[in-house]
Amino acid sequence: MNRIPEPELMDSPPQVDAYDGADFAEPNRFFTDILLERFGSRLEKTGHVVDLGCGPGNISIRLARLLPGWQITGLDAGPNMLDRAGTRVREEGLEDRIRLVHAHLPEMPGDLRDFDLVISNSLLHHLPDPMVLWHSITRLARPGGLVQVMDLQRPDSPEIARELVSEHAGNEPEILQEDFYNSLRAAWTIDEVGDQLARAGLDGLSIRSFTSRHWLVQGTIGSRT
Ligand SMILES: C[S@@+](CC[C@H](N)C(=O)[O-])C[C@H]1O[C@@H](n2cnc3c(N)ncnc32)[C@H](O)[C@@H]1O
Repeated sequence: MNRIPEPELMDSPPQVDAYDGADFAEPNRFFTDILLERFGSRLEKTGHVVDLGCGPGNISIRLARLLPGWQITGLDAGPNMLDRAGTRVREEGLEDRIRLVHAHLPEMPGDLRDFDLVISNSLLHHLPDPMVLWHSITRLARPGGLVQVMDLQRPDSPEIARELVSEHAGNEPEILQEDFYNSLRAAWTIDEVGDQLARAGLDGLSIRSFTSRHWLVQGTIGSRT
């Protein structure tokens, strides 16, 4: 199936409400479970993680709970989405642990650098130029830093995309079902992401199929040259 890009930002108030109200508990749990399974033994007691395209902050907040000694930076280009993340962070009493940064990649504040861990979930398929994510990761991670990126895999046909929507979002509002369908059509395949990693020179990262609808990239950043 040919890729159909979707708008980069999902920041209208109804989109933010729908996204924030959706039940992403399962994929979010998959994301943090596999992170700890792969990297748990290498995560120091303290550290700093950046969550690229953090949206309403669900994964940033989960990680703050799982890694109590760590500081978290959540970065997003959508002002309304970031406002919602701010509300969630305050509700959880995590203002001292989670810093939220408004930035539209590849632009980012110069003080963001040397992160021990760079994570991103469901951002890549929104970017007009996918290399922006991989170059941002190279810039933000410290040498030897850890990386985990998850996103949707583009299915082979529109029919399979519709089946995935009804299986995994059948009970969600219409606006969210359409967003999910459009995201599946905008998603990159494993082969395409493999090419992107090679072009970015990210030899320490590898990709694999993760769930029926996701791929997962994990690995380590080499020393900067
Ligand atoms: C599908 S949401 C994913 C949110 C979150 N990571 C999650 O797993 O729930 C994608 C997010 O990426 C953000 N985004 C899109 N393009 C961006 C860019 N160039 N720089 C920063 N954030 C961007 C959008 O505003 C949106 O909040």
